[in-house]
Amino acid sequence: MPSDLPAFTPDRRSDVPIFEQICTALRSRIRSGALATGARLPATRALAGDLGVARATVVTAYEQLVAEGYLMARRGSGYTVCAMGEVELPAKGTPTPPADLSERGDLLLEAGQPDMRLFPHRAWAKAVARLCRTRPEDMLMGCGRFGHPELRQAIAAHVNDWRGIAARPDQVLVTSGATEALDICLSALASNTGAVGVEDPGYPPIRRFAQAQGRRIRDLALDSQGAEVPTTGDGTDVVVLTPSHQYPLGGAMSAGRRQEFVRWAAQSQGWIIEDDYDSEFRYAGRPIPALAGVDGQGRTVYIGSFSKIFSNSLRMGYIVAPEALVERLVRAMRRKGARASAMPQAALAEFMQHGEFYRHLRRVRRIYAERHRTLIARLRSDFSDVGHVEDYQAGMQVVLHLRPEICDQTVTTAARAAGVGAEALSSYSRRAGAFNGVVLGACLNDLDEQAEALSRLRATISSTG
Ligand SMILES: Cc1ncc(COP(=O)(O)O)c(C=O)c1O
Repeated sequence: MPSDLPAFTPDRRSDVPIFEQICTALRSRIRSGALATGARLPATRALAGDLGVARATVVTAYEQLVAEGYLMARRGSGYTVCAMGEVELPAKGTPTPPADLSERGDLLLEAGQPDMRLFPHRAWAKAVARLCRTRPEDMLMGCGRFGHPELRQAIAAHVNDWRGIAARPDQVLVTSGATEALDICLSALASNTGAVGVEDPGYPPIRRFAQAQGRRIRDLALDSQGAEVPTTGDGTDVVVLTPSHQYPLGGAMSAGRRQEFVRWAAQSQGWIIEDDYDSEFRYAGRPIPALAGVDGQGRTVYIGSFSKIFSNSLRMGYIVAPEALVERLVRAMRRKGARASAMPQAALAEFMQHGEFYRHLRRVRRIYAERHRTLIARLRSDFSDVGHVEDYQAGMQVVLHLRPEICDQTVTTAARAAGVGAEALSSYSRRAGAFNGVVLGACLNDLDEQAEALSRLRATISSTG
């Protein structure tokens, strides 16, 4: 280290990489005040020479500390120490989880919730820091009305690789989530006279959006192959489907049924809206191609989301429009006003292009797979007297179908009071008495929290039964 810093010699036999050793040494000097706010760090070349390491190693260490908020990089004047407490991030590893999630007001096993503790803070901070340093204006102004060009490009590449959808970046429209995307698509596609086909049970906002727009709704019941296909000529002109993983029941639509929908769309000049919001979470077997990828007629609009992979609070999703619909969707977006924030878009593009996104995806998928598997095993062993579960080896929630004499609404009201965010399956359907069960989020909680939640749920069922 240079003369004004206490000596530091990297330990070359240690398992800790040298750049991390440099980070540790600098962090502790900054925290102790040995390196004061505003102090300039030695030039990377000089420090590399002093320590006998490659200059890239020092650059990596400095960049890491910039990302963590310890250092600031200024073009032409090197790296200086930030005021502590301003932008400091946790120094090591993943942030410490709170002892009890319910203390923060969160409910256990809440459906549709990813575990925010797995958010890739460090890698994300690096992407943001890199952008702030190299092209800060991009974070504020680089975003077109339909999304940052690089993000649109990264999404086009993503859906091509992962979902088999060939699309150009200009067919991608960035939204503030899958929910907003559904609203935009319905507003662009549903006609005033036709009906919107909606899966029953299904995602409640779809029905609300269609009703708010004054559309007629045609319920699509489900059988073992997936949603039933409307009869050509019955006035349905748009259907909203979750073919990869039906929400909330789980299960994938069969290949045959997909083809029937494609034929229906071609024959009735209808449109299919494919809501693929959690398709990244398949825990076994090969990914099921998106319906939009096999629809050779170009009548399927694809919707994806980053909320579940990443963070519900990032609020980012997208539409991939077939060629013929780009203009119509663009007009609907203009009419409604784009709501996706500009700031994280360039960072997310950077994150995807550098492979961090896929690293994170692989990590959470592994963790969620274990939680999902364990939840099913526990439900099968401890709840078999009150209901049953199907294992589709995919998705973020699991349904415990209850025996008819146990009322799901009663159970979930009591469970919520006990801190367990189970949803009543019957509330997703318009058919009274057709469904009775609890929808449980498999991803939000670790295995200990899950065990605690299940013991509370078990007690609730016993006390309400
Ligand atoms: C079927 C379905 N579509 C879309 C969404 C919402 O996605 P986003 O958070 O991106 O709006 C959900 C959320 O749980 C969902 O269950």
